Amino acid sequence: MMMSAPEIVLGVTGSIGAYKTGDIIRQLRDGGYGVTCVLTQRATKFISPTTLQALSERKAYTDLFDPESPQIVHTTLADRARAILVAPATANIIGKFANGLADDLLSCILLATRAKLLFAPAMNVHMWQHPTVQRNVQTLKRLGVRFVGPDVGKLACGYEAIGHLAETEEIIRALKQLVPVVGVPAAKPAAATKKIKARKRR
Ligand SMILES: Cc1cc2nc3c(=O)[nH]c(=O)nc-3n(C[C@H](O)[C@H](O)[C@H](O)COP(=O)(O)O)c2cc1C
Repeated sequence: MMMSAPEIVLGVTGSIGAYKTGDIIRQLRDGGYGVTCVLTQRATKFISPTTLQALSERKAYTDLFDPESPQIVHTTLADRARAILVAPATANIIGKFANGLADDLLSCILLATRAKLLFAPAMNVHMWQHPTVQRNVQTLKRLGVRFVGPDVGKLACGYEAIGHLAETEEIIRALKQLVPVVGVPAAKPAAATKKIKARKRR
């Protein structure tokens, strides 16, 4: 049974944990998902859209207003997605979404979509434990948003505490529960495709 690969929008926000998104993309694609990356402006300070574009083999979006796109980007991506995974998710995006704010591409997509939503927060322990952040997390959970992590780990700020981005495998497992891949995905995983091409050249 051939199935088309379920579409995932991977939202990347401005956290040190953004360096792990390359691995998340690879594992999603190997798991049979199609991935389109949307970076906030602050995320681009931590990881380049070029890197995510190359790994996803799709345009990586950073702007709400994209003069090159004939379609309205936020509604198109919102409608196409089976799930939106925000990893890493900052205190800022959690707070904006919990309060219905839509001032950039990712926050507009989150409001415009009816796809399943999975957030993988990463932040300083005191930020995570702040009552306003916890209130926003509870608001989103009540609205049906799933959370994976944060885990206890070594944080960039020096603490060994809760706030660490969940392990990639943990994130992928949580996503697979939300959007299982049924049958053999039509899209070939990137790594497998490359191996086939390499063999052909010999
Ligand atoms: C070096 C550095 C690391 C940061 N790491 C985090 C983080 O892990 N989590 C977080 O919530 N904010 C972090 N911030 C703050 C966010 O980048 C900031 O709140 C920003 O406005 C988030 O914007 P965005 O949610 O639109 O990406 C960090 C800032 C700096 C300068």
